[in-house]
Amino acid sequence: MNYNAKVTGTGSAFPKKSVSNEELAKQLAKDGIETNHEWILERTGIVSRHYSETGNPDEFNSSLACLASQKALQMAGKTPEDIDQIIFATCTPDTPLPSNGCWLQKKLGAKNAYAMDLVAACSGFIYALNTADQAIRSGDVKTSLVVGSETLSSMTNWSDRSSCVLFGDAAGAVIVERAPADSQSKIITSHLQSDGNLWEILHVIAGGSNEPVSSEALKQKRNKIQMQGREVFKHAVRTLSQFATKALDEAKISHEDLDWFIPHQANLRIIEAVAKRLNIPMNKVILNLDKCGNTSSATVPTALDEAVRQGKIKSGQTVLMDVFGAGLTYGSLLLRW
Ligand code: ACO
Repeated sequence: MNYNAKVTGTGSAFPKKSVSNEELAKQLAKDGIETNHEWILERTGIVSRHYSETGNPDEFNSSLACLASQKALQMAGKTPEDIDQIIFATCTPDTPLPSNGCWLQKKLGAKNAYAMDLVAACSGFIYALNTADQAIRSGDVKTSLVVGSETLSSMTNWSDRSSCVLFGDAAGAVIVERAPADSQSKIITSHLQSDGNLWEILHVIAGGSNEPVSSEALKQKRNKIQMQGREVFKHAVRTLSQFATKALDEAKISHEDLDWFIPHQANLRIIEAVAKRLNIPMNKVILNLDKCGNTSSATVPTALDEAVRQGKIKSGQTVLMDVFGAGLTYGSLLLRW
């Protein structure tokens, strides 16, 4: 028996606190870090972002993910007991052990599922969706919950003005279900790749087993994000264009016939450069970067959820998701809604 996998529900959740560029600039100025709304908007397209309240259990990464998952379940008409598999893409888990997948399973009451985390930074959600697609098509799994959720504010280096203005916290989730072999609504194709040689341009070096967090590591902010922005920019434009083209070519869908493009939301200038290379008009590009910032693995599922709930994405339409992240990791996934 051949199966397909299709997305039947989406959900997202954000911390209560939204911080505008002006508010962030004021906050950073107290520590002698200079920035302003005009620079952030012009160089990134970001206007505001959400930050979790440190220590508030309602805004832990897994709690935001639980809220997003409940919304996705409701849209799909499913209960937590229906979930066979939870794949939780994150690079900012609540705890080193257990996995965020297990925290989410407990909070959701998904007692029939097996749960795991997947670490591929900003590409994590697409890697996870690809994994769920394969598990469903093999017949092993009927219903999968795929999550991309981050509290990046916990990993942000607030002394580095070129990176600290970029990030935000959010959770996105989708329900993926088994569909018949002749289903039009399905995940059509996906392509993943990584290049570990490029680890240095975006990394957090301390906090793992090589260099556990120490007072020295904390002092040097070695447990925070280090990024070579221009290098990341260059690789992002190249790989996003390349992986979008791979997916469209394989599915024999022309750029004109594509209905929606959801790229990783890191920088509006990256997105515009990629859309131009691909000949995709900006009115087909789904954006939430302006009000969320870069939420890593949560950017694509939260943008998807917003577009679905606004009624933009309609049954039978094609949606191309395209990501890059630390690793470096890359990927694209094309589906028909
Ligand atoms: N406010 C004001 N000025 C700033 C700021 C700021 N927040 N940040 C940097 N500047 C200054 C710099 O000091 C520099 O000044 P100088 O010319 O006097 O030296 C000037 O602005 C230009 O700096 P650049 O770094 O060249 O600025 P650029 O246009 O490259 O923009 C940015 C920087 C926004 C980081 C860009 O390179 C970028 O978006 N890169 C990609 C980042 C990205 O996509 N990250 C995603 C991955 S995240 C993940 O995977 C978790």
